[in-house]
Amino acid sequence: MSVADHSPLVVLIGPMGVGKSTVGRLLAERLAVEFCDVDEVVVAREGREISDIFVDEGEPYFRGVERELTLELLAAHRGVLALGGGAPMQEVISAALEGRAVVFLDVGIADAAHRIGFDTSRPLLAVNPRATWVRMMNERRPVYERVARWRVDTAGRTPEDVVDEIVGLLSSDAEEGMR
Ligand code: S3P
Repeated sequence: MSVADHSPLVVLIGPMGVGKSTVGRLLAERLAVEFCDVDEVVVAREGREISDIFVDEGEPYFRGVERELTLELLAAHRGVLALGGGAPMQEVISAALEGRAVVFLDVGIADAAHRIGFDTSRPLLAVNPRATWVRMMNERRPVYERVARWRVDTAGRTPEDVVDEIVGLLSSDAEEGMR
């Protein structure tokens, strides 16, 4: 059995504020499959918000739960799966992404800023959100680029437009596969 037989149709990765959930939900609708956001599963499993998990237990605990659930969902979910922004930085997760249809949703700080600036749900951006976002993106970009099959720029585009591009990429990939 190849990876494609038992994996999500599409995995979305990228930084906080890029719109993984919005694009993921729309994309799933378009493809008539289920959407799943790992962050939401973490919140449901833990019975508390991500910011509370960070405060109560610390980041290493959060990363442990994130790792366990991400690997579980990579094995079990067959629709569109959106990962948390930091997930691909865990080596075991980036290894598990190999060979899958991974889309890196890219964006610059100018476009991300209005979504992250006043959002208290993201504990890593609680202090100095813009500078922190830029620093994290610089650190993470090489990993996002390495594990993704495609990079899709979302700057100045509507979610519908981004979804159109992803659908096009998926169908050209399917055509390649049939040749
Ligand atoms: C994080 C991103 C968040 C969430 C947590 C940590 C990160 O997910 O998993 O706050 O390290 O970038 P989103 O990318 O969905 O906001």
